Amino acid sequence: MAVQKITVPALRARKGKGQKIAVLTAYDATFARLLEEGGADVLLVGDSLGMVVQGLQNTLPVTLDEICYHGRAVARTVQRAHVVGDMPFMSYQVSPEQALTSAGKMLKEGGFESVKLEGGEKYAAHARAIVEAGIPVMGHVGLLPQSVHAMGGFRVQGTQEEAAERVIADARALEQAGVYAIVVEGVPAELGRRITEAVSVPTIGIGAGPHCDGQVLVCYDFLGMYSNVRPKFVKRYAELGDAIVEATKSYVSEVQSGEFPGAEHSFGAGKVPSPDRPTGSRPVVDAPPKGYGPASDPS
Ligand code: KIV
Repeated sequence: MAVQKITVPALRARKGKGQKIAVLTAYDATFARLLEEGGADVLLVGDSLGMVVQGLQNTLPVTLDEICYHGRAVARTVQRAHVVGDMPFMSYQVSPEQALTSAGKMLKEGGFESVKLEGGEKYAAHARAIVEAGIPVMGHVGLLPQSVHAMGGFRVQGTQEEAAERVIADARALEQAGVYAIVVEGVPAELGRRITEAVSVPTIGIGAGPHCDGQVLVCYDFLGMYSNVRPKFVKRYAELGDAIVEATKSYVSEVQSGEFPGAEHSFGAGKVPSPDRPTGSRPVVDAPPKGYGPASDPS
């Protein structure tokens, strides 16, 4: 049966229907396959890859080429989920023309179906230029990781009424510019609710409370693999970090003791001639395996 692709109009249409949008980040083919199998609606190739994949302190050094590289790995893997890519720092801020050129490259070279950019009123014209070229845009308001230095760190935004109203104005400006959804990051839950009620497009919350139209988490966070920081808004649905460390300890110990590889992980196991029975010119296995790997090795 043909897989039903999740489209931008389908995501927009979920607003007000009560069917929440589940978004996760993904940066490679294996994660993309597993997260899609688990039912994620949207996979975001976030510039968070700078921190969780590249080991950087923040997202600022991530480049357009790097986003496209990871985008291709995700896009060629998924069938159903919508694939959106983060526009990296300084790939759109300079002008609407620069924003459009970068977004075009992301669709042509990264395989993305839409792009996401950070910022509200200040970048509404940039978002509009992209939308008018037929490229769907996801906005991002509240805590803006690319403005980490201006914000003085990764801090909750909109805690005072004046600041809260600015975030709402940002969301409205993006809505007017034609974005199809807005990520709302790091704001009090009540502000998350006000923004969600103020705009006609779905809001996707991260640290923005339960009232948004969808939620997004970084895949390494929700799987318990990224332990540098443990923000309050992250629910860890698994502890894969611990599982990986334990598995690695077992592997190291078995390699050191000689327990691995055993007969079941060796080619032609059980057919190796004993030292007191010379092989002459016969091969040590009856027939070489046809290929290399578990599916092709019958022994
Ligand atoms: O870069 C990213 O992963 C993001 C999400 C956390 C929203 O922007």
